[in-house]
This record gives sequence, structure tokens and C-alpha cells, in this order.
Amino acid sequence: MTKDQAPNLGAAYALRTPDDSRRLYADWASSYDRDFVAGSGYILHGQVARVFADQGGQGPVLDVGAGTGVLGQVLAQHGVTPIDATDISQDMLDQAQAKSVYRRLFTGDLTERLPVPDGTYCGVVSSGTFTHGHVGPDALDELLRITAAGGILCLSINAEHYEAQGFAEKLDGLASQISDLQLPQLPIYGPENTSDHRHDLAVIATFRKT
Ligand SMILES: C[S@@+](CC[C@H](N)C(=O)[O-])C[C@H]1O[C@@H](n2cnc3c(N)ncnc32)[C@H](O)[C@@H]1O
Repeated sequence: MTKDQAPNLGAAYALRTPDDSRRLYADWASSYDRDFVAGSGYILHGQVARVFADQGGQGPVLDVGAGTGVLGQVLAQHGVTPIDATDISQDMLDQAQAKSVYRRLFTGDLTERLPVPDGTYCGVVSSGTFTHGHVGPDALDELLRITAAGGILCLSINAEHYEAQGFAEKLDGLASQISDLQLPQLPIYGPENTSDHRHDLAVIATFRKT
């Protein structure tokens, strides 16, 4: 992204490295909820929260790639608690903290080891972070490490990213460590979105750690 270009979905999809993400989201944090969430009719956080709650998901939950905390807000409305948040961007987490729905917020890079002991969480959720230019399937190993046996993972994965990055093959390789895999595909945006992305779908990968 050049310095005079406002942060947007195109710039986010073109990210290549964790440092690129830190830079872009530092610029985007203060306007993200208004410009992207409200401005594009983004509904993916609501989809993930509903699927997690429908599966009987319970806290303690970790929201990975939590950003400004819109998923945590909806999860709390579903009665899920406590919720922790992690993200590579401290600026995004500062916005999330202001929503007062998270118990603990900490920076972490999903492409590396998270500062979390094995088996800590009964649920791991994510919306909008497994997508172009962001996080790929290798992070699933780390998310399983921090999940307690029997815990539920509920992760949105951009449907094109799912195909391009080999998430199906990764999930096949994890078959001995997971059960109850469901892969519904749901819209990322509501009807008010009139952009080229208005029909974009996400796989909501939902499974238990055995
Ligand atoms: C499109 S935003 C989604 C935020 C929020 N979950 C939502 O639904 O609005 C993607 C988030 O992923 C975070 N992110 C990108 N790469 C990451 C990484 N390697 N580890 C952790 N978080 C990352 C970004 O900082 C950003 O907050």
C-alpha cells in the first residue's frame, strides 16, 4: 500500500507478510468499524457467532484475529463468556478493548506460536482473518494446540482462499485430531453491498478437538 492510499479491502487482500498486516491495520483501526463493517454491510462476524452458539459453543473462548472486536460483541450477545482476543495489530486490539467485551487481549501472530498454554480454551473462533493475504491453513495446528479436548473451533475461511490454499487437504490431514467437521458456506456481506465482492462466500469450518 502506498502512503497516500486509504486502507481498504483491496489493500488487505494484497498483503504478503505479518509486517504488512501490522502496517495496514495500524492505519485502518480507527475507521475500520465505520468504513468496512458498517460501510460494506459486513455480516461475517454475526455468521460465525451464530454457528458457534448453535453448536453449543461455550467459554472460555479465544477470538483469533479479533481486530476491532466485532465478533466478540456478537458472541457476548449470544451469552458466550468469557472471551479473550488476540491479533497481530495492537492498534486493532486497542479498538476492541474499548468495546469492553473481552477479558484479556494480547498481541499474537497466528503464523507463529501464541503465548497460550496447551488446552486453554473451550472454544476458538475467528471471522475475516483466514482470507487472501492473511492467514493460511498451517495455523490450524496452533489453534488445536491451545484448544481443550472436546472444545469447538469455528473459523470463517474465505471460500476462494479455502480452495487456493488447500484447507480441505489440511483438514483431511488433521482427521485423527478432530471430529464433527461441518463446512457450511455463508455470505460475507448483506444485501446493501453493491461492490464486486457482494456475492463472496466464506466456509465456516466448525469442528471439535478430539
Ligand atoms: C479483516 S480483519 C478481521 C477482524 C475481525 N475478526 C472482523 O471480523 O472484523 C483481519 C484481522 O486479522 C489480523 N491479522 C492479520 N494477519 C494476522 C496474523 N498473522 N496473526 C494474527 N492476526 C492477524 C489483522 O490485524 C486484522 O485485525
